Amino acid sequence: MAEAVPVILDVDTGVDDALAIALAVSSPRVDLVAVTTLAGNVDVDRTTANTLAVLDWLGADSVPVHRGASRPLARPHVDAAFVHGTDGLGNAGLPPSPRGVGADRGPAAIIRLASARPGQLTLVCVGPLTNLAIALNVEPTLPSLLAGVVVMGGAYRVPGNVTPRAEFNIYCDPEAAAQVLATPFPRLTLIGLDVTEQVVLSRAAWTAAADGNGPVAGLVDRIGRRAFVERGLAGTALHDPLALAAAVEPSLVAGESAGVTVGTEGEARGETRLDGAGSAVVASTVDPGAALRFLSRELGLPSLI
Ligand code: BDR
Ligand code: CA
Repeated sequence: MAEAVPVILDVDTGVDDALAIALAVSSPRVDLVAVTTLAGNVDVDRTTANTLAVLDWLGADSVPVHRGASRPLARPHVDAAFVHGTDGLGNAGLPPSPRGVGADRGPAAIIRLASARPGQLTLVCVGPLTNLAIALNVEPTLPSLLAGVVVMGGAYRVPGNVTPRAEFNIYCDPEAAAQVLATPFPRLTLIGLDVTEQVVLSRAAWTAAADGNGPVAGLVDRIGRRAFVERGLAGTALHDPLALAAAVEPSLVAGESAGVTVGTEGEARGETRLDGAGSAVVASTVDPGAALRFLSRELGLPSLI
């Protein structure tokens, strides 16, 4: 059996972030070392409270949580509450966590943890890239201290989901994304909408999963009601769980090495452009069936296909 990958998960929890947290907690393939939070889908107070509530709901109340960036590097915060609900969790009503956050802030915690275990930890970022940009600014050797970085972000050969050209995590803080993607990481994988929009939780799969027993099924039930009952959606993309899945099971996606530049101004804000040779691996194809089977198994849910 494959060894567990030690992971720091950087989140803006968020409905699909909550499922990524559930995957991190449930899967024997993931050793969840810490979670860092930031402003993204909703403000950082809510993403932090949501992260703590989800971890506690899952019985993972010993996983440290570090509150991170409260706003993008250079511009006001725009949220995605229209997707995730005003509480960020589809109005799931989870009990609030009684516990507090770790003493150091998100970027400082990333640097501390990576420095304590050089070359061992994988950082998986499933929100805007503000915490990582700050950490890189403070500790430029961070790329070599990490075993790898996996980012959910970007739309490379497909339209965006916020504007025709931009995916939300990159659009939210394009200056942070530009700084991160200008950094020559030895091991950086970009999981964009090109692949995440192909891995979809259907209403039928949600209904079956939500009917199950246990905390993961209960979480899936609560966080899916807004999308499937209130908004009547037929399906919802599993962006953040796929990014974490690809971090521990890279065979789920295939991609190519490239450079990526990020638009910051006007209609190009948040655009991710493939730009010649570079060291980032940009995922271009995924086997949706294999990904859904992996997620079902690791989450302990009935088949999500
Ligand atoms: C990304 O944006 C957020 O709304 C989701 O949580 C995901 O990380 C998808 O574009
Ligand atoms: Ca997210």
